[in-house]
Amino acid sequence: MTRRVERLPVVTLDGPSGTGKGTLGLRLAAQLGWHFLDSGALYRVVGLLAKRRGVDLNDGAALSRLAATLPVEFQTGASDTEIVVEGAVVTAAVRDEAAGEAASQVAAWPAVRTALVQRQHAFRRPPGLIADGRDMGTVIFPDAELKIFLTASPEIRAERRYKQLREKGFDVNLAQLLEDIRNRDERDFRRAVAPLKPAPDAEILDTTQLGIAEVEARVLRLMRTRGLA
Ligand code: DC
Repeated sequence: MTRRVERLPVVTLDGPSGTGKGTLGLRLAAQLGWHFLDSGALYRVVGLLAKRRGVDLNDGAALSRLAATLPVEFQTGASDTEIVVEGAVVTAAVRDEAAGEAASQVAAWPAVRTALVQRQHAFRRPPGLIADGRDMGTVIFPDAELKIFLTASPEIRAERRYKQLREKGFDVNLAQLLEDIRNRDERDFRRAVAPLKPAPDAEILDTTQLGIAEVEARVLRLMRTRGLA
């Protein structure tokens, strides 16, 4: 008798920052009762801890040791996730632009990426996982049931980041955010390991003209056509 192995469904959301992946992922996970992986937060925590501990962002070996033993916990609520490092809530520091920039630098190290693979796989638990990042569909979950790649113009992404950060009380400058987004895109799209690119079997969704509710409805429709929702 052959036993059918039940697979744990994964939906991957990849794309550059400001395309709405995080908001979309949290909404989908809450609606479906699935787990949520914010993989960018892992790279952000590596960057943040490296800075706090005086680890050089050019020292790939030291960064990968830090990544391999990252003392981080995610406490996911209805609308956001608190990020806890060694007992202290560091969510605000992890979300700010400096941590995003440090994350993009540490994420270019192959050894850092390798050190975080298992930790990301561990998020795949019943009843399913929504995974948000850059290489979810290409490297981490290549067998995902549905892969979405979100895009949007850099201008609209900068505007979204601006609103989001202002709402959270950060003092930000729109022109500076647009420049940061362009620099980060350049690094994320061009790096040698796991560059930001759609998987060949990804559904590409341009969100420049779409509100979050419309994007969510489209993804849910795609999930339904594949028997996932
Ligand atoms: O999604 P985010 O802005 O939190 O990601 C921060 C940085 O981390 C981003 O510039 C690229 C990197 N990153 C990555 O290389 N791979 C991932 N799966 C997620 C993020």
